[in-house]
Amino acid sequence: MTELRVVEVAEEYLDSVFEVRTRSFGPGGDKDEWKKSARQFIADGRYLGVVDGDELVAAARIWPLEQWWGGRRVANGGVAGVVVAPEYRGRGVGSLLMRAVLDRCAEKGYPLTSLYPATTVLYRRLGYEFAGSRHLYTFQAADLRTLGGNGTAVRKAGRDDADLFLELAGKVHETRRSNGPLVWPRAQVESWLEDDNSFAYVAEDGFVVYKWSDRELAVEELIAGSEETARALWATVGSGASIAKTVEACCPPFDAIHLMAEHEATGKSWQNRWMLRLVDAPAALAGRGFPDGVVLEADLRIDDPELPANTGDWHLSVGNGSARLTAAEPSSDALRLGPRGLAALYAGTPLATLRGAGLAAGGAAPADAAFDAAFGGPAPYMLDDF
Ligand SMILES: CC(C)(COP(=O)(O)OP(=O)(O)OC[C@H]1O[C@@H](n2cnc3c(N)ncnc32)[C@H](O)[C@@H]1OP(=O)(O)O)[C@@H](O)C(=O)NCCC(=O)NCCS
Repeated sequence: MTELRVVEVAEEYLDSVFEVRTRSFGPGGDKDEWKKSARQFIADGRYLGVVDGDELVAAARIWPLEQWWGGRRVANGGVAGVVVAPEYRGRGVGSLLMRAVLDRCAEKGYPLTSLYPATTVLYRRLGYEFAGSRHLYTFQAADLRTLGGNGTAVRKAGRDDADLFLELAGKVHETRRSNGPLVWPRAQVESWLEDDNSFAYVAEDGFVVYKWSDRELAVEELIAGSEETARALWATVGSGASIAKTVEACCPPFDAIHLMAEHEATGKSWQNRWMLRLVDAPAALAGRGFPDGVVLEADLRIDDPELPANTGDWHLSVGNGSARLTAAEPSSDALRLGPRGLAALYAGTPLATLRGAGLAAGGAAPADAAFDAAFGGPAPYMLDDF
């Protein structure tokens, strides 16, 4: 090894990145298509690598996402494609790369970052913690077919509906005070909607996107602002019941479909957990929504060795549906958190759980219930992997 350096991934590194990805994740599909997508990350400094001399030995990219928290959108750097060449693993290369990724998220102004971990060790070291899940359920197509909603107008949708889809999803997540779902860049939504193998339908207050998966159907996203629309959209998918016996769907465990389908979701089901980290604690807290009527005044002591701007004595005020984190004098009553405890708290993990896992200490015990009330809400979920 000569000197390892973090670099911007540039066009001349793309063949090497593709090769390291193939060694890390298996055969990676069409190289030209992958390169096309990689160039979008290169274009605005969201693809970082590590080189040993001239040789690229690691890479990671950052999706420019937003995420719903308490019914408000907070910018989030979605970290993906973290790979280290096999012969360089176990020597701190992944950690070097991920530190640069965190700094880049800060430079880009993302108050949050999230990822799906293939191993937790690397990411916990750097302050990420589990915050929510992506759930898949399998329903009987015949159950969905008979859900009704025949009086609701449903039309085929396409690329030009991207803005409408973003608006409809936004309305639902705002009203439901959703935690976790992602907002993708419009270009990404457009590319999904123009995919010939995806079928999209839209109603006045909702939409569905689904596709074939072998001989079964798979719902990627279904947004419904009302019971009638939910029935109509699920029934549109279920109308394929003569061919597909089952419909897989990514949806949260508390989705209304669980209360409408006659049979409990069975068969293939799983959950995939994602991790969160606060990059800029004051901005992340100011960006998040909180339940109306909840009031919390508490001192915090945050110790964040990787992102020292978060370290310090703070006062947290929650009221009128919003929060403010301001620098404060040290307090013996302060709740003490590291970045992992802070991320899990932000995602609504009860304080008793954080104390039980050693991720929170101190604080005035009666305030625990107020923290839980402020940060609690619908369980965080995502519909998409990245
Ligand atoms: C996961 C990966 C990126 C780690 O890179 P790396 O350069 O080996 O990571 P580091 O050397 O900085 O390791 C940091 C810590 O994570 C631990 N770690 C790394 N890989 C691990 C694994 N697979 N299982 C458990 N711990 C692991 C290391 O042991 C180290 O902890 P330690 O200091 O206590 O020993 C690399 O192994 C890789 O490319 N794997 C294949 C692709 C992949 O899984 N990518 C992650 C997608 S989320």
